[in-house]
Amino acid sequence: MVSRVIPVDPFDLVIFGATGDLARRKILPGLYRRFWAGQMPPVARVIGAARSDMTEAAFRDLARAAIEDYVGARKRDAETIAAFLDRLSYVAVDATGEAGWTDLTAALRPDVVPAFYFSVGPALFGPIAERLHAHHMVRPESRVVVEKPFGHDLSSAQELNAVLAASFEEHQIYRIDHYLGKETVQNLMAVRFANVLFEPLWNAQYVDHVQITVAESVGVEGRGGYYDKSGAMRDMVQNHLMQLLCLIAMEPPSRFEPDSVRDEKLKVIRALDPVSPGDIVRGQYRAGPEGGSYLDAAGDRGSRTESFVALKVHVSNWRWAGTPFYLRTGKRLRARVSEIAVVFKDPPHFIFDDHENRRGNVLSIRLQPDEGMTMRVTIKEPGPGGMRLVEVPLDMSFAEALGEDAADMPDAYARLIMDVIRGNQTLFMRGDEVEAAWAWTDPVIAGWAARGDRPKPYDQGSSGPEDALMLMHRDGRRWREIEG
Ligand SMILES: NC(=O)c1ccc[n+]([C@@H]2O[C@H](COP(=O)([O-])OP(=O)(O)OC[C@H]3O[C@@H](n4cnc5c(N)ncnc54)[C@H](OP(=O)(O)O)[C@@H]3O)[C@@H](O)[C@H]2O)c1
Repeated sequence: MVSRVIPVDPFDLVIFGATGDLARRKILPGLYRRFWAGQMPPVARVIGAARSDMTEAAFRDLARAAIEDYVGARKRDAETIAAFLDRLSYVAVDATGEAGWTDLTAALRPDVVPAFYFSVGPALFGPIAERLHAHHMVRPESRVVVEKPFGHDLSSAQELNAVLAASFEEHQIYRIDHYLGKETVQNLMAVRFANVLFEPLWNAQYVDHVQITVAESVGVEGRGGYYDKSGAMRDMVQNHLMQLLCLIAMEPPSRFEPDSVRDEKLKVIRALDPVSPGDIVRGQYRAGPEGGSYLDAAGDRGSRTESFVALKVHVSNWRWAGTPFYLRTGKRLRARVSEIAVVFKDPPHFIFDDHENRRGNVLSIRLQPDEGMTMRVTIKEPGPGGMRLVEVPLDMSFAEALGEDAADMPDAYARLIMDVIRGNQTLFMRGDEVEAAWAWTDPVIAGWAARGDRPKPYDQGSSGPEDALMLMHRDGRRWREIEG
């Protein structure tokens, strides 16, 4: 299969926070992978920027180590790494002071696309944007990439939007949600909108419910203090799970272009009902074989921050009225898995005697670990012995269908960075989308505080608190197993 790659313009990518964890784990390895795949134009350059006083050679050593640590051996060879490192330079810049800004200005070339990746805490977005502006580095073709968290509530998100809007136009701002960079997430749109098969069934008449699970097996160790100010609702639901929900629930956009897609996602967020307190379960993991409890990690025995949340959500529109969306996410759960399951209703009339093996169709969309989609269908068990039914998966995993191409799937960060350079905002959140998501999330969190709710304890390696299971059981439904 010949893969068609949309060309990328020559660019200068400045990574603010280039010595940080995200740059080392994701951004630099992601860029290298694109370079290895021949997708970085010959004159593209990457300029690291942070306060640390570091030579260009030391920054290249840091990048080399990051590539060796995070890129698989199959894509590493000395010649390609050396050629990639040749593109890298470093400028020591203080985001909140004046040091380094003149050097950075001089490092940028006037005839290529300038892109600025803010891989720093949100408190630095404003100071960096102002200085880029003051030093005339913001041009009509400039782009800026900002990391999560985009605010911790509606008013802080509005402030960040205002800070960015003072220096950049909305079409220049790329708010990253790496979940949207996953191959499967985009494939979800292809499956829905490039086939006639699913869309007629994609509504409350045929879909019984939707489950979205983002489970992590790790805890919050090492960042307990930071996490304790956030919690699962802010850290995961407001952004990642909400984005996945939008892609499942949205109407077909008139074209696959950034604002058409984002308009439809925004309509979904605006159609969300407020969540009633009885439809939410929060949890905190207990101490267990894997380590201390959430409260130990938070360093606050009285913390009411949730390391787990499950909720039942209603999208109030013609398509979805009556079909609940169940969302759950948490730390220290049984396995690391991110999955969306669209559970279809039973046939209206069942003609077979084998009621025991009567199961509905389920389309499961797996984001991690193994990206792919599976459709569960019921067939006759082969062989004699009457009409015994059995469920089999109709496997749409990319690895088999696409062979080599799938094995080479770029990771989410690399794909999204290339989209930034191409000027394609489809997979990035617009300012009004983020604000609408916070406007829905804020009252939920305020409700917990007002009622003084305490999260329920749950065992490490479990599926969360018992009450989360009840959230579905009482509706006559059950969560899918969390299996890695
Ligand atoms: N790490 C992740 O997996 C992850 C995932 C999602 C989102 N994020 C977000 O991404 C951002 C970066 O995270 P991170 O984990 O990479 O943080 P980090 O490891 O703490 O790195 C922060 C970077 O910012 C630089 N920096 C700090 N103050 C600066 C200043 N005044 N001027 C210039 N540079 C400055 C630091 O370098 P110097 O000290 O040398 O200046 C360092 O390179 C944060 O907003 C985080 O929430 C991170």
